[in-house]
Amino acid sequence: VGQEDAQYLVSLIRSIPNYPKDGILFRDFMPVFADAKALSILMDALEKALPVPVDQIDAIAGLEARGFLFGPAMAARLGKGFIAVRKAGKLPPPVKSASYSLEYGEATIEIESNAVHEGERILIVDDLIATGGSASAARDLVKACGGTVAGFSFVMELDGLNGVASLGDYPTSSLLTMP
Ligand code: ADE
Repeated sequence: VGQEDAQYLVSLIRSIPNYPKDGILFRDFMPVFADAKALSILMDALEKALPVPVDQIDAIAGLEARGFLFGPAMAARLGKGFIAVRKAGKLPPPVKSASYSLEYGEATIEIESNAVHEGERILIVDDLIATGGSASAARDLVKACGGTVAGFSFVMELDGLNGVASLGDYPTSSLLTMP
């Protein structure tokens, strides 16, 4: 993202102290979606910042909930399909499950076992990477289904939590680094 565009996006991100728990500075990027100019900047930037060439991606997997807001739009722009990684208990069987801890709790996510085909190269997308717990769990789910992780795309990276490093050696892009 260019400096000016990055500043515009950051200006719209709301920061809420002590939400959802004491000590957490919650970054709310819903206002980016509500703003026509910001949404257009965001979608262009995600495409431009792809961590691998588009012909090395077979499908996009997005994490519930905020990865669902732009993952399918990104997939449509790139001519790919979209795979949903959901909170436990939402997808019908057969599913694969993975549990992880996040900046403020514990969670289990799931993927439909037949959503990923053997050898497919999957780009995993989410709005924010904090400690990397959910993205690592998504990586494990893709692999458990026989897929390959092509890389990761995030909108925001929280500085100082080593989230990207925790994913392992994958091409990764994040548009904005937030303190
Ligand atoms: N997910 C994990 N940490 C977060 C934070 N600080 N703000 C918004 N979403 C998050």
